[in-house]
This record gives sequence, structure tokens and C-alpha cells, in this order.
Amino acid sequence: MAEGKVLVISEEHALCYHAKKDLTREDFSVTIEPEISKAISLARMDNFDVIIVSSKDVSIEQNKLLQDLKKERFDSLIIAVTDNYSYYAINNMLQLGIFDFLPESFEPKNLFLVVKQAILFKRVKNNIMIHEEKIINMEKQISLLSKKVDEGVKNSISLYSTLQESYVRSIKALAQLIDMRDKYTYSHSENVTKYAVAIAENMSLSFQEVKDIRDACGLHDIGKIGIRDAILTKDGKLSPDEWILMKQHPEMGARILRDLDLKNIAELVKEHHENFDGSGYPAGKKGRDILLGARIISLADAYDAMTSERSYRNIKLSKESAIEEIKRNSGSQFDPKVVEVFLKIIDNLV
Ligand SMILES: [Fe+2]
Repeated sequence: MAEGKVLVISEEHALCYHAKKDLTREDFSVTIEPEISKAISLARMDNFDVIIVSSKDVSIEQNKLLQDLKKERFDSLIIAVTDNYSYYAINNMLQLGIFDFLPESFEPKNLFLVVKQAILFKRVKNNIMIHEEKIINMEKQISLLSKKVDEGVKNSISLYSTLQESYVRSIKALAQLIDMRDKYTYSHSENVTKYAVAIAENMSLSFQEVKDIRDACGLHDIGKIGIRDAILTKDGKLSPDEWILMKQHPEMGARILRDLDLKNIAELVKEHHENFDGSGYPAGKKGRDILLGARIISLADAYDAMTSERSYRNIKLSKESAIEEIKRNSGSQFDPKVVEVFLKIIDNLV
């Protein structure tokens, strides 16, 4: 394969001679056509890498033809052989998109060097264009891919949250059945949730913290699943051994929820029977060592237990008496701050 295709448009004997002899020897394919209109027809049919034109042979009209050709064959590089370096001549050559100049009395080796340099330049330019095209395609693919990844991530997040919600709903339904085994009313979980969420929202907790509290309320006694009906539904007082078993339900519930990957909720459930003064269970945690969410659930749970229909184990209290009981236990069983907020909102809750 030829090193490159060269078209020489000239009647100049020396130029035609050296182009044919020296460039062919270096493996270039050389076409010589002295008549410019014929040369231009040739250039339109074939894609020459380099066109060498002797400016002495080119009239203004022919110059225009060359300009038109350059527009069509923009990747052909033009080398002008001229001794005319006047402003007018140079301007003409530049309009022609000249790549390089050679003097009329050029050294034969310089002809080869200028042509070789033009071919190398063209190759580098072509390579750059190919790489630019590849980069543009890659950028398009990356942008397409990143859109798909974005959509995929969004879909996964929404699917995950839908799955988790329906997951939590199913477990809550199970927890409601356990409440009923424990002789609570069907609405115990709903009431605890209502009180706890109202307190949490009034304490300016974050959206996620309120959501965790809401979910934990519906699940706080799920650990009772492992406690026998004989203990859970016992009319009289529980024996010390039975109490030991009963006190395991927060830890048991937390273990179930951890296994279900509901870690935040598990921690709230674990601490919902801790008391502010450290007298609660399972760990006997004190004050602010107990999670705020758990301190809120503890109060909401106790208030609903006092006022619910459940009680043959406890005497049902009126709303006023239950509020007095809560106040009385502020600082011992309950966090005074939580009690304070509870007292502000309880009258607005049905
Ligand atoms: Fe409980």
C-alpha cells in the first residue's frame, strides 16, 4: 500500500520531474495533471492526501476552483510551490487553506520532507478525530448508563421501601394478634402510636425518628409471642418466676426485629420498659441513657394500659386519674420532659 496519494497540478518541469521520481521512490502514489480543470475533476473522483500546486500556473479563476475543491475535499492538504511572497499572493494562498509552502527552487529532498510531514500531520489529525468520536460515543454511553443506573437505584429504593412497609404492616398485624392474646383491645397499638407520635412531633424529632417510633409502637410487645398463654392471660399476680419470663419480652422482641433487619425499631422495643430512674427492665438503664423514642413509647404504652378496656388485671382509670398517675410518676417511671409535652397535647387527642 502506498505511503500516500499525491496530486501535482503544475506545468513546471522540475516540480513534475522530482515529484514523480523522488516521491514514487519513497512509495507515494503520484498523479501529475498540468491542466487545473482536469486536475480538479480528478481530485473530486479520488481522495488525494496531498495536492501540490504551483502558484505560477494558477489564475484568479483557477484559484477560485481550488478553493471550492478544498471545501469539498477538506481533508486534502495543499502545498504551494511559489516564490511570490507578496501580501496579495500570501492572502490568496491562505484562503486556499494552504498547509505549507515550498520555494520554486526547492531542494529535491525538501519536497519529500514537506510531503511526508503533511501525510504524518493528516494521520495524526485522523487519529485524533477517531479518538474524539470514540470519546463522544463513550460519553453518550456513560450518560445513558448513568441514567439507567439512576432509574435502577430509584426503582430499587422505592421497591425496598414498599417492601419494607408491607413487611412492617404484616408484622404489626401479628403484633396486634399478640396484643389480643394479652387481653388488650384491638386498638391498643393504634392508641399507643397516636400518643407517642403526637409527643414525638411536639418534641421536634426528625421525620425518620418519628417514623421509627411509629413502627416501634405497633411492634413493642412482639416479644410476647414466646410467652405462654397461661402467663400472658393469668388473672392474678404473676409469680416471681413468671415475672422473670415476662420481663424477657423486650429483649426477645428486639432479637426478632434485629433478625428482620429492623435495627432502629429493635433498639426502641428493647428499651420500652426501662424507667427514667433506672428501676425498669431489661437493663435498668437510667435517664438519657434510655433512647428518647423508648421514653416516649413507655409513657404512651402506660397511659393506654391505664385507660384501656383490657383490665381485669388492672383497674381501668378515667382520663383525669390516668393523667394524675402519669404526673405522680414523672421523674421516676417517666422522663419529666416527655411528661411535660404529653400534658400539653393530651387534651387535643381524642
Ligand atoms: Fe411491653
